[in-house]
Amino acid sequence: MRTAVLASGSGTNLQSLIDAWKSSALAPAQLVVVGANVPGCTALERAQKAGIETFVLSHKTFASRELFDGALVAELRKRDVELVVLAGFMRVLTEAFLDAFPLRVINIHPALLPAFPGTHGQKQAVDYGAKIAGCTVHFVDKGTDTGPIIAQAAVPVLPDDTEDSLRDRILGEEHRLLPAVVRAFAKGDVTVEGRHVRVATAPVNSDARLRSL
Ligand code: GRF
Repeated sequence: MRTAVLASGSGTNLQSLIDAWKSSALAPAQLVVVGANVPGCTALERAQKAGIETFVLSHKTFASRELFDGALVAELRKRDVELVVLAGFMRVLTEAFLDAFPLRVINIHPALLPAFPGTHGQKQAVDYGAKIAGCTVHFVDKGTDTGPIIAQAAVPVLPDDTEDSLRDRILGEEHRLLPAVVRAFAKGDVTVEGRHVRVATAPVNSDARLRSL
């Protein structure tokens, strides 16, 4: 399955996909292109180092979100992309994009949705006093982090956690969960009925403290 990754920043989730792909753990998904909206971001460097084709479209050079999304669709169509993975892509996509890839756009969010959508999910969890946090891989719809949930992984929030320490713990789970979901999707193991998503090979929470959840 020809897979594109869109990113804006450091790209550690992209790296987890690259590592899985290089060790054949992503098959039958293959990474064909990485797109970014921030010129020079580390995610682009990671892709280039891995020998993956890249493109940059700066949203600042477009007059509207729709025009930006249309250009994004054109770049992906050129490469016959079948699955789009948002891995730290800090742009809200409009229907101009989503209609081109129905149920083919997935995102990773650093919180247990529907709690703490939007930005700074980890800080929201710490500030709220949550005891369990985690990450969610979900289909993207036109809302902000509201699409059907595909898989989640949980981690404990420890008494002395800061936003940074919780971010690192959650990232550990993100790097495991996202490649597992991409692989499952490419294998045809993900089925959707309305909001209900079934994953035949559901990834198990790796944190021993939460294995019983
Ligand atoms: C991750 O926390 C992801 O959940 C969120 O953005 C962050 C991206 O991190 N959507 P990275 O660029 O993959 O390191």
